[in-house]
Amino acid sequence: MTRKEFISQVGTGAAILLLPACLTTGLSSCKKKKKDAIEPRSIDFTLDISSGPLATNGGALVNDGVIVARTMDGSFIAIASACTHQGTTINYVSSTNSFLCPNHGARYDANGNVLQGPATKGLEDYKTSLNGNSLRVFS
Ligand code: FES
Repeated sequence: MTRKEFISQVGTGAAILLLPACLTTGLSSCKKKKKDAIEPRSIDFTLDISSGPLATNGGALVNDGVIVARTMDGSFIAIASACTHQGTTINYVSSTNSFLCPNHGARYDANGNVLQGPATKGLEDYKTSLNGNSLRVFS
């Protein structure tokens, strides 16, 4: 075997060994990640609404990365609290039933859809269920 033949065979063998690892395991180094991808999270917690911001219409609080708001008509909404632009915690605006990012002004509707940029990706929204004074927030 010549030197050229040896290098050719070793190089081909290495490529054959690495290719299946990329195809079968989805190694992060083998594929390009989306810059703005936000992984959905599993959420399940309960809040006592007998006191604090959620005791009155228009109130809101942030818990475990979720902003929970009590609308002016007394219903509850919950969406991820980190703005999709650069991660700033958003605020609830009860007068418009929407969310505003104080950093660069992105606005989201009550379901987490973008109303105004610079954010281009919406926020995950979560379900709520009220039982007495216990509000369950879950995905
Ligand atoms: S971080 Fe929210 S608009 Fe920029």
